[in-house]
Formats: sequence, C-alpha cells, structure tokens
Amino acid sequence: MSTPFKLAPLPWDSSALDPVVSAKTISFHYGKHHQAYVDTLNKLVDGTAYADMKLEKIVQATMDAQGKEKKIFNNAAQVWNHDFYWRSLTPARTEASGRLASAIARDFGGTAELIAKLAEAGKEQFGSGWAWLVSKDGKLSVEKTANAETPMAKGINCLLTVDVWEHAYYLDYQNARPQYLEAVLDRLLNWEFAAENLDKEDHAVRAAAE
Ligand SMILES: [Fe+2]
Repeated sequence: MSTPFKLAPLPWDSSALDPVVSAKTISFHYGKHHQAYVDTLNKLVDGTAYADMKLEKIVQATMDAQGKEKKIFNNAAQVWNHDFYWRSLTPARTEASGRLASAIARDFGGTAELIAKLAEAGKEQFGSGWAWLVSKDGKLSVEKTANAETPMAKGINCLLTVDVWEHAYYLDYQNARPQYLEAVLDRLLNWEFAAENLDKEDHAVRAAAE
C-alpha cells in the first residue's frame, strides 16, 4: 500500500507548550489521534484517484459526500485541521502587528475583543469541533465548525484555529473546556502565522488581478 500522506513534524518540541498544553497531551493528540487520521486516510485512498490529489483538494471534493467518501473527508480534513492547529500555536510570545493588527482593530475593535469572540465560539461549539479566525469577503470573522468540518473546505482563508475536541484538553483540564480555551488563547496563539496567512491571500488577490 502506498502512503501518500505523512504526519507533518510539529513546529516545536513536544514539551514546548507546557504547562498550557502538556507533553502528555501532545503525545496522545499528535502521536495517536493525528497519526491515526493520517494512517486511516492512507488506507481509505489506496487505489483511488484521491491518492494522487493534494490534501486540500480532497477535503474540498468530499465535503458534501456520503458513505466511504464521507470517511475520506473526515480523515483528510482532520489531517489538515491538526497540522493547521499545531502551526496556530507557539510557545514564543507573538503579537498581531502591521496589517493584521489593523484588520483586527477594524473588524473586532482589538485583540482582546477578538480573543473573547474565539473563546465564546469554542465554548458554544456543542460537542467536538473547532474555533477559527478566518478572512472572508475582505473582512476578518470568527467561526465555529463541528467534528472535522473546516472553513477551508469552502475555500475560506483560515488564519488561526483552536481544537475543542475533548482529546485536545481532557488530560490537562478534564471537562473544563473554558479554562483550556482561556489559557491557549491568552498564551499560545501564533499571530505571526495568522499574519502570514492573511498575506498569502493578498498575494493571491494581486496575482488574480494582474
Ligand atoms: Fe484534535
């Protein structure tokens, strides 16, 4: 069996987010859950046209699918979501600056207001899912999605995400999802990654206009 999809390396050491997210949580979340999505995806796409497709294209092509293709969507989206989540977090203190900071001020009033909206979205997501900062129609906004669903499937530019599946916080916070959200949003968000994602969109818009 070919294995076209690989588990991408973490952008930091597995204990780097401690104590907000412990090395034990990372060992299960990355080493077991994320790895399992990669392994299951490789099994599901074996011998299909999806084996030669980019991960993003698979997610977009299967977002409304049923049956086996729904399983492909769930696993492909979770591989993408988790890779995006790891890169949304950093142990280094970063701050929104430049054009990202201006866009946050314009659309939320400030970083504190944006963080409050992300916390609310993460708390309100019933069951498993994700809270997102996205850029859509020239405006930043906060969205929440259930299970493996991702704004990227609809072609929406994602800037940051926070995983609110129980496996993301149960070992460290038990059932206290709000405490996990408060700590992660306050201490670990990678604003430089968000700025890069916003800049990519501007380059794409300029390229399309030329
Ligand atoms: Fe997760």
